[in-house]
Amino acid sequence: MVAHLYEWLALAIRWLHVIAGIAWIGDSFYFMWLDASLKRDESTPDGIKGESWSVHGGGFYRVIKFSNAPDAMPETLHWFKWQAYTTWLSGFALLAVVYWLQAKAFMVDAGGLAPGVAVGVGLGTLVLGWGVYTGLCKSPLGKSPVALAFVLGGVLAGTAYGLGELLSARAAYIHVGAMIGTWMAGNVAMIIIPNQRKIVAALLDGKTPDPKYGAESKLRSTHNNYLTLPVLFVMISNHYPMTYGHEHAWLVLVALFGIGALTRVFFNFRNAGRVLGWVLPVVAVAYIGLAFVTAPPAPEKVEGVTSATWSDVQPIITVHCTPCHSANPTHAVFRTAPNGVMYDTPEQVASKSALIKVRAVDTATMPLANETNMTAEERAKLGVWIEAGSPIP
Ligand code: HEC
Repeated sequence: MVAHLYEWLALAIRWLHVIAGIAWIGDSFYFMWLDASLKRDESTPDGIKGESWSVHGGGFYRVIKFSNAPDAMPETLHWFKWQAYTTWLSGFALLAVVYWLQAKAFMVDAGGLAPGVAVGVGLGTLVLGWGVYTGLCKSPLGKSPVALAFVLGGVLAGTAYGLGELLSARAAYIHVGAMIGTWMAGNVAMIIIPNQRKIVAALLDGKTPDPKYGAESKLRSTHNNYLTLPVLFVMISNHYPMTYGHEHAWLVLVALFGIGALTRVFFNFRNAGRVLGWVLPVVAVAYIGLAFVTAPPAPEKVEGVTSATWSDVQPIITVHCTPCHSANPTHAVFRTAPNGVMYDTPEQVASKSALIKVRAVDTATMPLANETNMTAEERAKLGVWIEAGSPIP
């Protein structure tokens, strides 16, 4: 019962996280687009950067942007921050509930770091990651946005590599994503909103706000925009073991981040009226190329394993899979079959053999954390049996 309720708790948090994330990213895309769509002509008054007309849901909207700030504050001013804060808080809770509180199952591979140490590494990555990121933005490097972007790309690659060495493959990906999410939410909470407050305070004082506040916020908000596609990939990466389960998982992550960020480059330029025709073809070729480069090698040949029958396979499944994947799991953490996948009967195993090949032969992402110490020979036997068409009696 406790494990069951725990799952319902995780579901509530995950649901909230996705909703808040959609709201936040929706705002981010909308405002980036709005900025790029602003038009001005001779009739545009001084102090106005531009205006944009749009139609939505049966109504017309006319938005103007001030070059610096209005002369007087309106009575009601809408701030956009709780979308970001809710996304981060729910993401943090989800990380704790799914990964940290079940660290032995999800944070480390068998024989790796002690689970408590792994949680420390995860939490430390978020804290240290923010320090490094904001330090780089405030350093002289912050004056050259493109150079800064490449250095930040290096920081992400290094983190992905390092975490890949220390944590389980899934945990490594998720913590890179959580670090990016922390940068993004930190930008809102520590830079953009405080700067906005300084601007408002100056106005209420009857002074002209220092434009440096606006400029700093714009840099951070642009980072957030480019980080949206990478962080979204990490959120869904769990469903794709060919990415996090790859032998060079960190390089796959870097490649997908590059593809995501480049896609944003195209749309940001297009919104501003410049079509960079080469970007999307390059993105498509890179994506397809990555699919080929990451193709699993032919199953490892293990000497002596040339054929396998159901009677060879059944004990492997019983030892390594059914502790979790069963109508009645015996595992301490997994009280119901993960993803509803059960291997209690030969038919159940045979009908799922394509997925079994992906998870237990090609990528070795199952058994989870290789908890049961499945050997290369056992994986090879499974592979040979599946190649032969998964024969069952
Ligand atoms: C310690 C528990 C545990 C053991 C043992 C285990 N699994 Fe899993 N399995 C999970 C969990 C948790 C998930 C869901 C998360 C994921 O997909 O990584 C899962 C997911 C899967 C999936 C994906 C199902 C889907 O809907 O995409 C497959 C396939 C799978 N396991 C196969 C196996 C095979 C084959 C074995 C034995 C060689 C095995 N598992 C052993 C816990 C386990």
